Amino acid sequence: MTKRKAAILGSSGMIGQRFAHMLHDHPYFEVVAHCASDRSRGKTLAEIWKLSDIELNPELAGQTIRGTAVEDLAREGVEVVFSGLPSGVAGDVEHGCAEEGMAVFSNASSHRTDPDTPILIPEINHQHLSSVEIQRKRRKKAGFIVTNANCSVTGLAVGLKPLIDAFGLHQFNVATYQALSGAGYPGVPSVDTLSNILPHIVNEEEKMNSEGRKILGGFEQGQFVDSPVNILASCTRVNVRDGHLEAVFANKPDMPDKESIVSVLDGFSSRPQELSLPSAPEKPVIVRPEPDRPQPLLDSLAGSPKRARGMAVTVGRIRTSADSLRFFLLVHNTIRGGAGGSVLNAELAHREGVL
Ligand SMILES: NC(=O)c1ccc[n+]([C@@H]2O[C@H](COP(=O)([O-])OP(=O)(O)OC[C@H]3O[C@@H](n4cnc5c(N)ncnc54)[C@H](OP(=O)(O)O)[C@@H]3O)[C@@H](O)[C@H]2O)c1
Repeated sequence: MTKRKAAILGSSGMIGQRFAHMLHDHPYFEVVAHCASDRSRGKTLAEIWKLSDIELNPELAGQTIRGTAVEDLAREGVEVVFSGLPSGVAGDVEHGCAEEGMAVFSNASSHRTDPDTPILIPEINHQHLSSVEIQRKRRKKAGFIVTNANCSVTGLAVGLKPLIDAFGLHQFNVATYQALSGAGYPGVPSVDTLSNILPHIVNEEEKMNSEGRKILGGFEQGQFVDSPVNILASCTRVNVRDGHLEAVFANKPDMPDKESIVSVLDGFSSRPQELSLPSAPEKPVIVRPEPDRPQPLLDSLAGSPKRARGMAVTVGRIRTSADSLRFFLLVHNTIRGGAGGSVLNAELAHREGVL
């Protein structure tokens, strides 16, 4: 099969490096351009590599980063763009790529609230992909943008979806313990994080609710319809490298027992598993029975097969009473909550014939 020509934007960043790793030797896409700002232009991937848990593949080490010029990508026939740009830059650049006919899979928040642009998580709302047909009609050359969600809401939504469907839960409280890599590189100043926890992440709590409602809602008659779900979040930044841990609380009369909750989470499977997408985890939610799991250090890279490492969400410490449910949930913020989410979205688009 001929692979689709792809470019990575924000190649030198935390998300961009994950893209380079996940897209290396990919069955559907071939990366022909690693792009970043003038600060990185001319550097090799070996020179900018910061990931500690994944070794840079020797075949990638010598590849050079170039500037970000939409017209060059269009001229070179790039069909698919994976974007790890900061939101301040992503808005115009991603729009430009879509206008030039490219399919853009973005991590930035710039287009998440556009009325014809999905926040796609294939296990939850694969039907939302059809919104790109509306987008295409207003684009000069029929490209489109698909976004993925804020990293903490991605993991949460994957864990909540089976519970919402099975038990009608709608009101959730969540406290997050978010990793430093969630703020990009170099991110939060180290003196602020040593022996410390920061109890505020700008706009994060608002995004968890508004994005959660769009993701978990429907797409009907050409419009997104918000879910009635209500997520009240308290977000903190903690001194952890990768992996957002979240403590989730829900109340309702006649709460199902722990065995029922475990069975629903453990049995969750959806469209990516049905299609055996290359980066889809065999089990989107892994339930750990141990009293001290999930932990960022031990569980962030959960997920199999190999290409889906870091794509599973881990749930543990499930506790129920007659009217309450509590559990911890862990998501790898730069894989499932970042680059991996975009790669899975692109795989779905490819297999559903949307590209
Ligand atoms: N980190 C996460 O956990 C996470 C999760 C989900 C979504 N996101 C979102 O993903 C995006 C990237 O996050 P990140 O953590 O990877 O950030 P990052 O580490 O700060 O990387 C940003 C990247 O964008 C490039 N860039 C900056 N300004 C540019 C410009 N004017 N033109 C071209 N390239 C430019 C940088 O290149 P230089 O190195 O050359 O400056 C770098 O490659 C953000 O929108 C973020 O909100 C992040």
